[in-house]
Amino acid sequence: MSFKFIKYVPVKLTEADRLKKAEEFYELMNKRRSVRAFSPEKFDRKLIELAISAAGTAPSGANKQPWKLIIVESCKIKKEIRIAAEKEEKESYERRIPQSWLDDLAPLGTDWRKEFLETAPYLIVVFKIDFTKSESELKKHYYVNESVGIATGILLSSLQNTGLATLTHTPSPMNFLQKILNRPSNEKPYLIIPVGYPAEDAVVPDIRRKSLSEILEVI
Ligand SMILES: Cc1cc2nc3c(=O)[nH]c(=O)nc-3n(C[C@H](O)[C@H](O)[C@H](O)COP(=O)(O)O)c2cc1C
Repeated sequence: MSFKFIKYVPVKLTEADRLKKAEEFYELMNKRRSVRAFSPEKFDRKLIELAISAAGTAPSGANKQPWKLIIVESCKIKKEIRIAAEKEEKESYERRIPQSWLDDLAPLGTDWRKEFLETAPYLIVVFKIDFTKSESELKKHYYVNESVGIATGILLSSLQNTGLATLTHTPSPMNFLQKILNRPSNEKPYLIIPVGYPAEDAVVPDIRRKSLSEILEVI
């Protein structure tokens, strides 16, 4: 069955406004940092719900929209996630991660301790859905990693736009999330995103971003 086709509604702007908006958006995004120390202060969950609605507008392979997002605000479940993540991360930092990876992580000051999984008022857990299964058939999704990556980028941008701090966290392996959050077997954990206001004394490493000329070539 094919879709009915409807008129495309573009965003209408003057040339001057386009440039202003592009500059403002870059400045906003250039302030985004991965924050690892959160204030426990709560805020209206609607902000996250709207950011997830924005994420849900992402393009996806054959429009399969292969994502599911869970907001965790229960202290009990956040604690369970922290305990499971720290168990895996301790093993990774002490035994699984090769020295070259540890060397790359060292300047960021991260270790196996993940206090932020309990202090952040909300955790967003992003799942990717590789296929759907009914009694009669299994339907495969396409370009799942690309699609969920784009949706997550929109989510992070939207949260940045509301002045909230985020972290992109990937405990490895993270299949414990499927069990703790009671997700079906076709949903695979993709990322954990703690969200909140930064702790008052939060610091971030003074990293350098590649310049435009390093990341862009025009031919
Ligand atoms: C896919 C992905 C996985 C990441 N996993 C972790 C993680 O598990 N723990 C962590 O502290 N930071 C993690 N980060 C954050 C990066 O370390 C961070 O983005 C990078 O150092 C650049 O810093 P910035 O986000 O402040 O620009 C991850 C980032 C990405 C994109």
